[in-house]
This record gives sequence, structure tokens and C-alpha cells, in this order.
Amino acid sequence: MKAIILEKAGGVENLQYKEVENPKLDDNQVLIEVKAISINPADVKVKYAEEGLNMIYGNERPVVLGWDVAGVVSSVGKNVNKFKNGDRVFGMINFPGRGKAYAEYVASPQDHISLIPENITFEQAAATTLAALTALQALKDRVRKGDKVLIQGGSGGVGHFAVQIAKSLGAYVISTSSGKNRDYLLSIGVDKHVDYTTEKFEEVLSDVDFVLDSFGGNVLLNSVKVAKRGGTVITLLGNEISDEIGNLAKEMGVNISGILVQSSGDDMELLRNYLESGEIIPNIYKTFDFADMAKAHQEVETGRTVGKVIVKL
Ligand SMILES: NC(=O)c1ccc[n+]([C@@H]2O[C@H](COP(=O)([O-])OP(=O)(O)OC[C@H]3O[C@@H](n4cnc5c(N)ncnc54)[C@H](OP(=O)(O)O)[C@@H]3O)[C@@H](O)[C@H]2O)c1
Repeated sequence: MKAIILEKAGGVENLQYKEVENPKLDDNQVLIEVKAISINPADVKVKYAEEGLNMIYGNERPVVLGWDVAGVVSSVGKNVNKFKNGDRVFGMINFPGRGKAYAEYVASPQDHISLIPENITFEQAAATTLAALTALQALKDRVRKGDKVLIQGGSGGVGHFAVQIAKSLGAYVISTSSGKNRDYLLSIGVDKHVDYTTEKFEEVLSDVDFVLDSFGGNVLLNSVKVAKRGGTVITLLGNEISDEIGNLAKEMGVNISGILVQSSGDDMELLRNYLESGEIIPNIYKTFDFADMAKAHQEVETGRTVGKVIVKL
């Protein structure tokens, strides 16, 4: 099969389109013929340093990057009881471990995937994986009807799902982005938009029940300042919770923690329901051919994408 491989850490020039062996299937795994892949900042960052690759792949080289796929089940292990050949499936495979998604075929534990709703394309399904799971896992047991919720960077991969999930949970949703993404954010349900290029959110917001941060630094520090006593700040960059930020949260009575998304078939089922009902609509910003993976990485590296970048097979 064809795959995008990395012999050693480095820039996009190290991503090579090559022939490799098909994956071997365990008894609890399904083999997915991949139709679409989504690309995350995590995919893009991990390629740069050997330490990062070692943490995930040990000394295995070359490596196949990637976690997010949508495709068709082409064979099943002998203990698989949830899926059969021909099923359309999607999921985030083995995160934060070896997903090996940049390939024509991917072996996935049956507990990491769900069926794709009939009204959803492979590209839309692939988009609704790591970023959507992150938003879901951050919000689902923390946000309640009527809460005032602030989603930092609502136009991003995680952010645009977080806005829509918060809305479906009955929250009043505030979100930041630059002015060019204001209309998009209002169109997906944002009640109040803050353009971070012209306004300081910490000067116009207060008493927020829940903040989702994906930037760290001053955005995280100021997120704590706008949260109400007893409120919650969740950051996707847990190592950005410095002593200063942790102490401020303590003083202000704000709960703060970092999260790391986990593969989960049960959560994929929840996303499936959201997609089926139309409560979440993934935004596909750009689509690239498989052999153009380097261009897809470069697009995500701009930090300016709206929703998700997808690679089609
Ligand atoms: N811990 C975890 O499990 C986990 C999971 C997923 C992602 N992450 C991390 O979370 C971060 C975000 O991921 P992502 O996929 O959502 O990123 P992304 O899609 O690349 O985010 C791009 C968006 O961020 C917006 N943006 C940039 N600077 C901003 C600012 N100062 N304020 C508000 N919006 C801003 C941009 O809008 P404008 O063009 O309008 O500025 C753009 O739409 C990454 O660092 C990623 O590695 C962590």
C-alpha cells in the first residue's frame, strides 16, 4: 500500500510518499481502507523533533504519522463484533500512541471508531475526529444549560466544534477570533464575538462559567481573570499552567486543568449523533490529495485555518 512515511524528524521535505507493507490485524482490530484523513497541529508539530517521535514510536523508523481517518472496513479480526466488511467508519486511532493514519489501510481497535451517518461524506467524517473529540471531552461533563461559555479561537479545528457543542448543551456562547471569522462564528451559533485584534477580551468579559483555552500564555492567564468564582478553565496546553497562572486561579477560586484527548468509540458515537442531527457541521477549509501531504501540513502551520484541513485518498 501507499503511505506517507518519515525516516527521521524534520520539516515537510521529510514526508515521503512511499510503498510500504499493509498493517497486520489483531483479533480486536478492523482494517480500514482509508478515504479521508484530517490533519491536526499535533501531526504537524510531532514531525520536527526526534524526542517527540521517540515518545510515540520508540525506535521504530520509518514512522507513519496521523490519527484521524474515515473509510470503509475491508476486514475484521476474529473478536470484532461491532463492525463488518463494507461499513463506513471514522475515528481517532490510538491517540496519543501509534495511529499510523497516513496510509491507504489502517488497523484500528474496534473501540476507537463509529459508523459514519448516511448524510455525512468521508471528508466531513474525517474532519470530525481528534478536534471534535477534544471539544466534546472538554465540554461534555462540565458545561450546563444557561452557562456563560468562552471558547478561545472558535474558528479553529477544536474551537468550531466546541462552539457548536456548547450551543447544543444550551450555553450562552462567547468566542474570540480575528474579525475576518466573525460572520462564520455568528453563523454557527456564537452569541457574542470578540475580535482579539481590536478588543481585549479580558476588558469586555467577566463572570464566565467555563473557558476553553487553546493558546496558553496571556490568553490563559486572562481567561482565569474573566472566569467567575467556582468557574472552570480548561486548557488544551496543560504545560502552560505556570505557577503564576495556577496561583491566580487558586486566589480567584477558579478550577483550572489541562486535558489530553483520548481515543474513544463511545465518544465517537456521541459525535455520530451530533452529525446525524445536524447539531454539528464540520467546516472543511481546504482539501489536498494524498501525495500533497506536505502542502496540507504547511496549510495547518499557518495557524489561520478555519475548521479542518483534509487529505483525500
Ligand atoms: N490537549 C489536547 O488534547 C489537544 C487536542 C487538540 C488540539 N490541541 C492543541 O490546541 C491548539 C489548537 O488546535 P486547533 O486544531 O484548534 O488549531 P487550529 O485549527 O490551527 O487553530 C486555528 C485558528 O486559531 C485562531 N486563532 C489564532 N490565534 C488566535 C488568538 N490569539 N485568539 C483567538 N483565535 C486565534 C485562528 O483564527 P484567526 O485567523 O481569526 O486568528 C484560526 O481559525 C493547538 O496547539 C493544538 O496542538 C491540544
